[in-house]
Amino acid sequence: MKYQANEKGYYGDFGGAYIPEMLYPNVEELRTTYLDIMNEPSFKEEFNQLLKDYVGRPSPLYYAKRLSEKHNTKVYLKREDLNHTGAHKVNNTIGQILVAKKLGKNRIIAETGAGQHGVATATVCALMGIECIVYMGEIDIKRQAPNVARMKMLGAEVRPAKSGSKTLKDATNEAIRDWINNPVDTHYIIGSAIGPHPYPDMVTRFQSIISEEIKWQLKEKEGRENPDYVVACIGGGSNAAGTYYHFLDEPDVGIIAVEAAGKGVNSGESAATSQLGKEGIIHGCRTLLMQTPDGQITEPYSISAGLDYPGVGPLHSHLYKTGRGEFYSVTDDDAMTAGLELSQLEGIIPAIETSHALAIFNDKKFKADDIVVISLSGRGDKDLNTYIDYFKL
Ligand SMILES: Cc1ncc(COP(=O)(O)O)c(C=O)c1O
Repeated sequence: MKYQANEKGYYGDFGGAYIPEMLYPNVEELRTTYLDIMNEPSFKEEFNQLLKDYVGRPSPLYYAKRLSEKHNTKVYLKREDLNHTGAHKVNNTIGQILVAKKLGKNRIIAETGAGQHGVATATVCALMGIECIVYMGEIDIKRQAPNVARMKMLGAEVRPAKSGSKTLKDATNEAIRDWINNPVDTHYIIGSAIGPHPYPDMVTRFQSIISEEIKWQLKEKEGRENPDYVVACIGGGSNAAGTYYHFLDEPDVGIIAVEAAGKGVNSGESAATSQLGKEGIIHGCRTLLMQTPDGQITEPYSISAGLDYPGVGPLHSHLYKTGRGEFYSVTDDDAMTAGLELSQLEGIIPAIETSHALAIFNDKKFKADDIVVISLSGRGDKDLNTYIDYFKL
């Protein structure tokens, strides 16, 4: 397949494993075992059973009639918001906790931005009875307070990251530091399609259940497996990678990625990595990265904690550079308006991350008979205060 990582974890020019020597044994252990573990019949059976009975999969593919009428095209929503814990993140944490168990690890660390990955990690650690520490930027701890409470309720320890922009990038730095100090007993559950190889590929494979289901669900509803477009928001890129995966080598399916433009791409307060990024290395992989001319990482900004990241996964950099994906950037204001629109047209309050994907209709005009599948990556409960403040509800 053209868009798979090669053996060294490269998607074209992007990917690889750029890690400090101290992390080499951990990452190497994972790299040499992950595919064998994932292919074991007993692993597949346990993973699929948990996705079904614990997560509640398959998630519905919902035809959004009123949204479709409004934008004069056929819109289906892939309802990852209906998963246990409220977002797609749990597909990956179920997979990785099973990998960690196979590797004999008894301590889990994670980073989180919106808190959805932190909650999903705390959840599977409670399920398996494993110690859990989640690193989270101080600013994110404030803006995603309900998720912090959920993680604590689930028995996880939430450690604040106080450096830099006090958001996702800084939480990831702290988690990497922890892993370096605890190499033997700890597995680091990365929450997006980022990090050193094999993480982007492993996370993408766990999330690929999204497009696997879209194929047969669409066949049932429309008599064909391929939509005309798949659309997803991009933080690090895991819900997008899962939504695109089985369509990457299908040229008749358009791939649309939506990034956070914050207060505007050129405002200095943005997270529009494909527009502003240059090739560089962040958190263990070569990818597009927002940086100063001398290579210092630029502090990102977005109203949504889950998209507030200065890089993007290597698969997405490759999709951008090769032109396979169409990339759009959506401002805070346009995302918030799209979130309100979905709430009032369909009775579904989306996560603010997801609202960015829903704002695609401002930028892209679809044909009336196009089938457009949008990844509804998460529910908006965690964001209610931000919506309330913004709309003065
Ligand atoms: C609901 C939701 N959607 C999207 C994202 C962005 O992450 P990713 O790009 O890995 O899907 C997050 C991250 O926290 C999220 O919580």
